[in-house]
Amino acid sequence: MTLTTSIPVKKTTQSRISTVDFKNLGFGNYISDHMLVAKYDNGAWQEPQIIPYGDLMLSPAMLSLHYGQAVFEGMKAFYMNDGAINIFRVERHHKRLNKSLARMCMPAISEDLFTAGLEAIVKTDAAWIPKDDGSSLYLRPVVFASEAKLGVKVADQYLFVILTSPVGPYFSKPVRLKVELEYVRAAEGGTGFAKCAGNYGGAFYPTQQAREQGFDQVIWTDAKEHKYIDESGAMNIMFVIDNKLVTPALSSSILDGVTRNTLITLAKDMGVTVEERKISIDEIEKAFQQKTITEAFGAGTAAVVSPIATINIHGIDYQLPEVKADGFQLAVKKKLQDIRSGAAPDTYNWNHIIR
Ligand code: COI
Repeated sequence: MTLTTSIPVKKTTQSRISTVDFKNLGFGNYISDHMLVAKYDNGAWQEPQIIPYGDLMLSPAMLSLHYGQAVFEGMKAFYMNDGAINIFRVERHHKRLNKSLARMCMPAISEDLFTAGLEAIVKTDAAWIPKDDGSSLYLRPVVFASEAKLGVKVADQYLFVILTSPVGPYFSKPVRLKVELEYVRAAEGGTGFAKCAGNYGGAFYPTQQAREQGFDQVIWTDAKEHKYIDESGAMNIMFVIDNKLVTPALSSSILDGVTRNTLITLAKDMGVTVEERKISIDEIEKAFQQKTITEAFGAGTAAVVSPIATINIHGIDYQLPEVKADGFQLAVKKKLQDIRSGAAPDTYNWNHIIR
């Protein structure tokens, strides 16, 4: 399909925007007035439409509930300094969505449908884009199998939905993380690189246990030996060791984070040496003992750059120094913010600007 005509919009008669506390958004607490919905049937995506956000009539036999064909993206839209709207890194999110869809035997979404859909939903609910520093309109494109059938099969019917949500920072303070040495998020050859719903569901139990022990999240290690660091579930993980930016190299068990890619690109521009490689827990433990590790943080669309306060390894809490004004994290975060707001040139064409 080609989106030659504009996407039809059925507006709500009862906006909920007055119920939003824009000063205390939190993350994911509010869903904006409208949503985009497109159906896949007869081997093709049908014309999308924008309708008031609300419940959908779906069968409890729909295949995504039973066999897990569900993938999503997490993106953000902002107001720029000149009042234009910026949806950040649309192209890269689109490519990753299609990689996830392919892994789950689900139909690809064209760049046209993805981009036009995002533009239309963001324009429709532009009033929901927060203006305060550190806040944004979080965009959640999700694709799931809607065909009702109990046989174990690849579905023939899907829905593509885009929800939006005004959000503040994902974490309110530097996080405490525990290196997970028993449970596994993803194994090589599995679905860890795909943004599929099951990766998150499977992470809940160990994460809940870690929370009961006073941690915010876990740091996942490789499935074979529990020796090397993968990621942290809601974010990729990065370290500053010996003044170098060090992060686990991508593999089939690690999500190819868009923010990860952005920060690596900006770090290289800043003249920082970047190492994407295997990082063992032993190396991190030694770096703490020798005080060569000066920073650790999570990188993600939701998390942006989230400082880590504590990493627990084999039951020992290792503390990171407080985030320094002249450190790497704040500098790279400012660079990212300046590009997104239009204060610095967008040399990589990351901004998708709507006027
Ligand atoms: C994101 O960073 O957008 C994510 O999807 C992580 C989490 C909120 C699910």
